[in-house]
Amino acid sequence: MSTENRILLSNCTATAISNAAAALQAGALVAFPTETVYGLGADATNESAVARIYSVKGRPADHPLIVHIGQLSQLDQWAIDIPDYAIALARDYWPGPMTLILKRSEKAKDFITGGQDSVGIRIPANPIALALLHEFTGGIAAPSANRFGAISPTTAHAVNDEIGEFLNPAKDLILDGGPSLVGVESTIIECLEDLPRILRPGAITEEMIEGSTGLKIERSKSQTRASGLLDTHYAPKAKVFLLDPVNPVVACIAGVGFIAAENHLTPDGAIRLASPIDDDDYARCLYEALREGDRKNLTVIYVIPPSGDGVAIAIRDRLQRASREGGSLR
Ligand code: TXA
Ligand code: MG
Repeated sequence: MSTENRILLSNCTATAISNAAAALQAGALVAFPTETVYGLGADATNESAVARIYSVKGRPADHPLIVHIGQLSQLDQWAIDIPDYAIALARDYWPGPMTLILKRSEKAKDFITGGQDSVGIRIPANPIALALLHEFTGGIAAPSANRFGAISPTTAHAVNDEIGEFLNPAKDLILDGGPSLVGVESTIIECLEDLPRILRPGAITEEMIEGSTGLKIERSKSQTRASGLLDTHYAPKAKVFLLDPVNPVVACIAGVGFIAAENHLTPDGAIRLASPIDDDDYARCLYEALREGDRKNLTVIYVIPPSGDGVAIAIRDRLQRASREGGSLR
């Protein structure tokens, strides 16, 4: 790693956290760990700082950003007309891997919401993210810290590989908090109508939402735009092919990558990129495994998706998008 890159990476001492909070205050960008994936943060009230998030990510300007807050008492600064079921969800699953889409307050400007009348809010569970939020005190707008359309980073090094060259080493920071413990992005729940609706699956599952709210999930299609819902999001450079878990045999040319739970055998000639022991472990290691495939310059990665119905639903959702260009053998 070059010297310049080392300036960006900081371990998370109290000094590093207060420097990072000061950097946010001064309008700089701070990439920080969360339990889902790393975020690229800016002061959510600073339009020019938020504009830099878009240019660093190469993301279209009309895609809304999630505002991260440090405590529940800040929720009504950013959102109004909050339904009771959203409060129930917030009480049960925050801090945690869940984003609520709520009617926005005046504080949530168009440059955060992409001009929509709603705002995404999350209290992350990672202690470093919480320490940063508490020190900064305001809302931190943060998308995943990857280039638009690429895989979300789950380590500080992956952040540096994705966007390091677009950051300003004199101002911006990457906080290194180790690998993200969940590994896939938060569950996004739209809370704008009588029933909650899932816009993006994650570790907070349907059953958990129904259990917390006592309501059934709304299944009709939402009017809301969400970039994570684009067909080819979360794609590595290698082509991803999904295999049938029941009959995964594939004639494998030498040097392709292979990702599957540990009880599946690797086809001859394939490079094993990950062998997760269960679905949680699968979520935790998936993005790094896909990155490893790219680092090894593999052109094809075969994946056997998990078949469970907890976080496995989110894993299959991301894999389907990652495989959109490569195709599916299922
Ligand atoms: O786990 C996560 O949610 C991570 C960490 C850093 O918190 N963040 C994340 O942000 O995944 P991002 O921007 O990569 O994905 C957030 C998704 C986008 O698809 C965006 O369109 C959607 O949330 N979103 C944000 N605000 C929204 C809103 N007001 N209405 C609908 N969708 C919204
Ligand atoms: Mg993202």
